[in-house]
Amino acid sequence: MKIAKIMMSFLLILGLTAAFAFAAGDVAKGKVLFHDPKFAGGSKSCGECHPNGKGLENAGSKKEFHVMHKTQKSLEEAVNECIVAANKGKAIDARSQQMQDIVAYIKSLKGSAGKKPAAGY
Ligand code: HEC
Repeated sequence: MKIAKIMMSFLLILGLTAAFAFAAGDVAKGKVLFHDPKFAGGSKSCGECHPNGKGLENAGSKKEFHVMHKTQKSLEEAVNECIVAANKGKAIDARSQQMQDIVAYIKSLKGSAGKKPAAGY
């Protein structure tokens, strides 16, 4: 019986570790969501107004946002503001996998402003 309990705890810890590992955002998936007009139930893709992430190059390191004349205290809130006001979709859970993927994509844009792709880049 005791061994079974130890085994159960071990599996639980293993499961939780895996869950946290998967909770990290995926840049490639975020990019796909960013260009999907149906993302979050909307009718426009983020990419229509932010082509290739335009205008979001510094968003990954900001602490405060002013989207649609309102103030947001996190990148997740700013994303949701655009989802609701711009995409005409429904706000998504700030801790959801989709939000983490979108955030990972936006953070990956850092420093890309003004960079021109060179030949073979
Ligand atoms: C209809 C056009 C439009 C669409 C669609 C749109 N945005 Fe925006 N977004 C804007 C504008 C305009 C701003 C600049 C803030 C303002 O003027 O209110 C902005 C600002 C932002 C910011 C804050 C940037 C900063 O550095 O302050 C983030 C983050 C953002 N958008 C993410 C998204 C995401 C993610 C999507 C898709 C879910 C999206 N936007 C869809 C127009 C749009």
